[in-house]
Amino acid sequence: MDRHLFVIFGATGDLARRKLIPALYELIAGADAWDSCRVLGVANSPLTDEAFQARATEALAAAGHPDAAEWVAGHFHYQRATEGFDALGDRIRQLEATHSMPGNRLFYLALPPSVFDDVIAGLGNAGLAEAPGWVRLVVEKPFGSDLASARELNGLIHRWFPESSVHRIDHYLGKETVRNLLVFRFANMLFESAWNRDRVKDVQVTVAEELGVEGRGRYYDEAGALRDMVQNHLTQVMSLVAMEPPATFEADAIRDEKVKALRSIARIDVDDVVRGQYDGYQDDPSVPAGSTTETFIAARIDIDNWRWKGVPFYLRTGKRLAKRTTQVIIEFRDPPVCLFDREGSCQVHANILALTLQPHEGFELLFDVKEPGERIQLRTLPLDFFYEEEFGPLPDAYTTLIRDVIEGDQTLFVRADEVEESWRLWTPIVDGRRDLPVYPYEPGTWGPAAADHLLAGHRWVIR
Ligand code: BG6
Repeated sequence: MDRHLFVIFGATGDLARRKLIPALYELIAGADAWDSCRVLGVANSPLTDEAFQARATEALAAAGHPDAAEWVAGHFHYQRATEGFDALGDRIRQLEATHSMPGNRLFYLALPPSVFDDVIAGLGNAGLAEAPGWVRLVVEKPFGSDLASARELNGLIHRWFPESSVHRIDHYLGKETVRNLLVFRFANMLFESAWNRDRVKDVQVTVAEELGVEGRGRYYDEAGALRDMVQNHLTQVMSLVAMEPPATFEADAIRDEKVKALRSIARIDVDDVVRGQYDGYQDDPSVPAGSTTETFIAARIDIDNWRWKGVPFYLRTGKRLAKRTTQVIIEFRDPPVCLFDREGSCQVHANILALTLQPHEGFELLFDVKEPGERIQLRTLPLDFFYEEEFGPLPDAYTTLIRDVIEGDQTLFVRADEVEESWRLWTPIVDGRRDLPVYPYEPGTWGPAAADHLLAGHRWVIR
């Protein structure tokens, strides 16, 4: 691991405490590379280095690392944001000189999007987009709130930072099962040869959460499920499922194919979108009264290319649903003729491939077998594989992604044209969504019934 300075903007925030600092620790402990990284926390609060170290130590203890105090005390520093970017530059150079560091710098924007612009411009104007070593800029989601704002943000970033140094985070791409989708598809001839309109009836991506908005209403009510989850996480998963095989396993070859899949979607029809809001959402004190923001969304998407023409892709996500699960379902076509009737109805079920991305990560392939006995009685059973049983616990997505940033691998990060393609699709829906009804749904269910009607002739599947 290259020695570097890890600068966290928003160092006193929730993301830094819950995810970034623990992920960094796990990475460094895993590589036994204790001296490879120094952290410079930047935030508005007037903290000393020691006070920041105490917070970081506490965050690590809460994440199950009670013995981190010594490492933190030797490697964590703090700089108040209000002192400005020139002062920040001086501090960076001073730390690098004192600790004989090679000048590799990673700037992580763990900030609300409203201040992205100021920080990016501040870094650029202070000459911090260049360094004696490498520079990497990490931008958290949401990246823009529509196509125009995403383009503007890309333009601003590119004034100073070349695309090769920009890492737009979508933490779903760091999940092990999401990464394995590519291996699953392109290392296994069996599945890839059936991964098309000849064999597949529909594709579904469900990201269901049990939790509600839990006090995040100020952010969430403005974003809604569409901006919070669909434009980024669900669209990313969909493009990995839909993309063509890349020419190589390199970042740009893979991202080219993802962009091509998105470009094959002419548009999303507003009539193919269903919005819902769970009962009780407006009781959360952080949510404005009378809000019509969606906490649930389902959509049907048509990918008009040779592989997928005619195969509907259904996406849905929601808060306060029946259970926490993220699944990709590939539902295969029915056999052309049913040989196994019973009392006038066909006993045969379509094969289903269920890829569970969380929480019980694994794959299941459902197929029909004959129950023992004289009568022909069919039963659907799974061929399955679960990560935990085979490999033990999986790393957190942030650990994977931060390692990739440090190594300069952009495969699991969203490229500028990719984020714009995604916004091209979703901006008309964002703009028009207030005209769509928002159906109430009971917490603990699968959302409003209208989401089932969207599937005419198909049905939602969950394992
Ligand atoms: C975040 C959203 O990006 O993803 C949250 O802002 C959501 O609203 C979260 O709860 C879900 O992530 P995960 O990894 O828990 O599925």
